[in-house]
Formats: sequence, structure tokens, C-alpha cells
Amino acid sequence: MAGGTAIVTGAAGGLGGAIGERLAAAGHELLLVDLDQAVETVAAAAGARSLVADLTKAEGVEAVLASAGGDVAVLVNNAGITRDARATKMEEAAFAAVIEINLVAAMRLTLALEPRYRDGAAVINMSSRASLGNFGQANYSASKSGLVGFGRALAQRWAPRVRVNALAPSLVDTPMTQAMPPEVLEKMVARIPAGRIGSPDDVAGTVAFLASPEAAYITGQVVFACGGRSVAP
Ligand SMILES: NC(=O)c1ccc[n+]([C@@H]2O[C@H](COP(=O)([O-])OP(=O)(O)OC[C@H]3O[C@@H](n4cnc5c(N)ncnc54)[C@H](O)[C@@H]3O)[C@@H](O)[C@H]2O)c1
Repeated sequence: MAGGTAIVTGAAGGLGGAIGERLAAAGHELLLVDLDQAVETVAAAAGARSLVADLTKAEGVEAVLASAGGDVAVLVNNAGITRDARATKMEEAAFAAVIEINLVAAMRLTLALEPRYRDGAAVINMSSRASLGNFGQANYSASKSGLVGFGRALAQRWAPRVRVNALAPSLVDTPMTQAMPPEVLEKMVARIPAGRIGSPDDVAGTVAFLASPEAAYITGQVVFACGGRSVAP
């Protein structure tokens, strides 16, 4: 489905920029949203509009509604953070912060846009292979499996007008993973059957597919774009 506005959150980040490029190539008018002002540079390069907004705040969601002129064809809930720690040592603030942006903010924006989705629109929630459970990421895993449940519930309710799917990458080469200690990252990459870390393009291509008419019969699903990590021990 070409045309219509595509909104990508967390678009200043490694994945968001690549997703924006693919959706622009598919003919969508892009609105790139991020807390980080760097989103303006990413948007300028992609010929897109940008919005600096904190999606954990009601004003941030209102600003997206005001900026997303016309019908919404695609929403990619991609903004996210990690605050890793051993579960028993994790501070409550670290649980709350991760759930708030990764899950609650995505829910709020998805629901606020409900009257604006065009027929055949696609919502894509950026989950993670960590939704299956990751050591040191109890908060992040909870937020990412929460997104899956949220999407499944909506997919039933909103079909056939709007499709809702989740995407679950494993490690992708972005600032989020570049911040990890190299020896930890190396060990984790060794467990990916594909034998390499994912590239932002690996993930962006799957988002573009889920947003396209080729995925018209896919809703309420989780696509593991993770090099087989979800089936590895
Ligand atoms: N990189 C990976 O290995 C990987 C793997 C699986 C899933 N993911 C998920 O993919 C998504 C993108 O990850 P990334 O690697 O590009 O990370 P990133 O840190 O490069 O980008 C995330 C972006 O979200 C933005 N953001 C954070 N809080 C926000 C808020 N309150 N309002 C608006 N924007 C906010 C940040 O400013 C940042 O630009 C995340 O949801 C992440 O959990 C990443």
C-alpha cells in the first residue's frame, strides 16, 4: 500500500532510521519521532518530517496526533530502552522506566491513533527475542512480551481494518548493542545460528514486508527476525 503517513518512533536510533528509509522507498509519507533531536538530521536525509517528542508524556502523544496529517497507513512502535540488571538487584525505577516507554507509551500512541488508521493500515510493534526471557533483562523481557500480548488483543478487535503484528529481532548492530561490553556481545553473537549480528537492514526489510500488502493476511503474529536465535539453546 503506497501512500498514507507512516509514523516511526525511536527514529533517531539505529533501527528507526533504517526502517524510515524502507518505508519512504515504499511510497509512504514519513513522520519520524524521537526524544533525541538527532531525529531532525535523520529525517532531513530521508526527506521526511520529524518531531522531537517524549512519548512517555501525554503532550508527546498529542504532538504526534497534531503532526500526523491525514490518514495513518503505518505505525511502527520502535522507541525503546534497556536498563539491565540481575532481577533481584534491579531497582524499581528501572522496571518502571522500561515498561513505561517500551510498553505503556506504545499502547498509548497506538490507541490514540485509532480513529486515524486508514483501511488496511499496519501497526508493527518492535518486540525482541528477549520476549522469550533474557538473563539480566527481566524488565525488558516483560515489556517486549507485553507488546506481543497487547498486539494480539488488538489484532482480534481491529481486523480487518487494521493489522497488528510484532517483530522480534535478536541482536542488531545499533548504538543499543554497541553500548554492551564487547566480550559479552561476542558471546551472545556466538549463539546466533546465522553466525552474525543482525544489521538494521535485516530488520527494516521485515518491517517493510509487514507494512506492505504482501502481508495483508498476517495479523496478530510475531515474526522472529533473529538469525534463528529463538530456536537455539
Ligand atoms: N539493537 C538490538 O539489538 C535490538 C534487538 C531487539 C529489539 N530491539 C528494539 O528495537 C528498537 C530500536 O532499537 P535500537 O537498537 O535502534 O535502539 P536505539 O537506542 O539506537 O534507539 C532507540 C530510540 O528510542 C528513542 N527513545 C527512547 N525513549 C524515548 C521516548 N520517551 N520518547 C521518544 N523516543 C524515545 C531514543 O532516543 C532512541 O533514539 C527498541 O525498541 C529495541 O528494544 C533492538
